[in-house]
Amino acid sequence: MTVLEYAALNYQKDVTDLVEFLRIPSISTLPEHRPDMQRAAEWVAERLRRLGMDGVAIYPTAGHPVVYGEWSQAGPAAPTLLVYGHYDVQPVDPLDLWKSPPFEPTIVGDNLYARGAADDKGQLFIHLAAAQALIHRSGNLPVNIKYLFEGEEEIGSPHLDEFIDSHADLLAADVAVISDSHILGPDQPAIVYALRGLAYIEVHVYGPSRDLHSGIYGGAVHNPIQALCELIASLHDAEARVIIPGFYSKVRPLEPDERADLARIPFSTDQWLEETGVPAPYGEPDYTIVERTSARPTLEINGIWGGFTGAGGKTVIPAEAHAKISMRLVPDQEPQEIADLVAAHLKAIAPPTVRVEISELHHGDGAIIPRDIPAMQAARAAYRAAFGADPVFMREGGSIPVVATFQKILAIPTVMLGFGLPDDNLHSPNEKFNLQNFRRGVATVIHFLTSLGGQAAGQGVATDAWPESSEVSEDFGSLTP
Ligand code: BES
Ligand code: ZN
Repeated sequence: MTVLEYAALNYQKDVTDLVEFLRIPSISTLPEHRPDMQRAAEWVAERLRRLGMDGVAIYPTAGHPVVYGEWSQAGPAAPTLLVYGHYDVQPVDPLDLWKSPPFEPTIVGDNLYARGAADDKGQLFIHLAAAQALIHRSGNLPVNIKYLFEGEEEIGSPHLDEFIDSHADLLAADVAVISDSHILGPDQPAIVYALRGLAYIEVHVYGPSRDLHSGIYGGAVHNPIQALCELIASLHDAEARVIIPGFYSKVRPLEPDERADLARIPFSTDQWLEETGVPAPYGEPDYTIVERTSARPTLEINGIWGGFTGAGGKTVIPAEAHAKISMRLVPDQEPQEIADLVAAHLKAIAPPTVRVEISELHHGDGAIIPRDIPAMQAARAAYRAAFGADPVFMREGGSIPVVATFQKILAIPTVMLGFGLPDDNLHSPNEKFNLQNFRRGVATVIHFLTSLGGQAAGQGVATDAWPESSEVSEDFGSLTP
């Protein structure tokens, strides 16, 4: 039996185990889920132990723990790979839009629905399943591996840099791999070579000392919600450009070569409209949708609140109003510099009729990885072997701040070996993971490790010949889409 045949045989068991992992509501941002974070960390650590990894440990941090384990039996001549993933997930609201409960994983057709299915538990699990197949068939892995799984990615990894800095020797490796991104379509793999960074602030606007009667005071008091809306409305011009002085000054210009490469990425505006549900695209006219969403910086209002929002009317001028604003950044924009710049701008343009305060949430650096390093080529060959198609190289609009940390502290590049699909509903209701991508993901990682280790993975069974997920779905109930 080849390694791939073993993986195929083990597939149903893998899905069952993944379902168990997905049942743990490890929402990192909500304090009431702290015990679930610990449970999820223990679940991952137990998997690593069962695989025969050494040094398996749950390292406490000032936030949620880091899980570590390593395989060093490939020998000193073999390269060392650092595998990163995150076991935390996003909150589930609005809950009423979920067609099946977010923590009761449900299979419909060849899709597994659950919060964290694609982001990132399903993708993290692919690495465990691939390692298991290799270890069980050959008693060894083709490369040495260090596994680093964190529980704070979805809240900006506030304690991870410190952990990596203080465990730099433990984590020393030749290259890192992360499966936490998506490919273009079921049959079109993609390698992400750039990620955007993030700067995140909150704006607080204070007016009267208490909520006021809008009949008695209205007309002579600047309503804080109105003032906040006026501030926010002044941040973009009519062509979607951010008009904060200096916002674009450090943006590394897109070279014509790279623009030509990005223009070759298969993209359909109609499909994109369908995927997003918006009636028309928005954005900087000089850039394509692909460029706008991956290679250009943005400023977004993520939330806004204040005043009376209950049923019925209440004639009131609220005492305060608030908004969450985040900026997606591209190389070479510095998150702290941009946060300071935006904060200073908002303070400078604040009218004298209200008081404006700014607080900072979290920041993360963007990253660009050279496309010609050997590990990228190994990834390319692995995708080709498992998906039957050459991957395209693309930039990603989302952020995985640890990639920059790996570059800065460990001085290693990261290969983004993603298996999500654009319609996986990350951070949204009805998040899913496509199980064909799961099967092909396991095969891709097996090929990738084997190729990094300098051998050939050999022929296995084609992953589309693996058991259909419907054969394993009965236990999990079903749902009508
Ligand atoms: N998996 C995503 C990043 C991602 C999204 C990659 C889409 C590729 C496609 C990750 O878990 C995430 O959501 N990251 C946050 C990071 C932030 C909190 C610093 C993000 O991008 O919002
Ligand atoms: Zn993620």
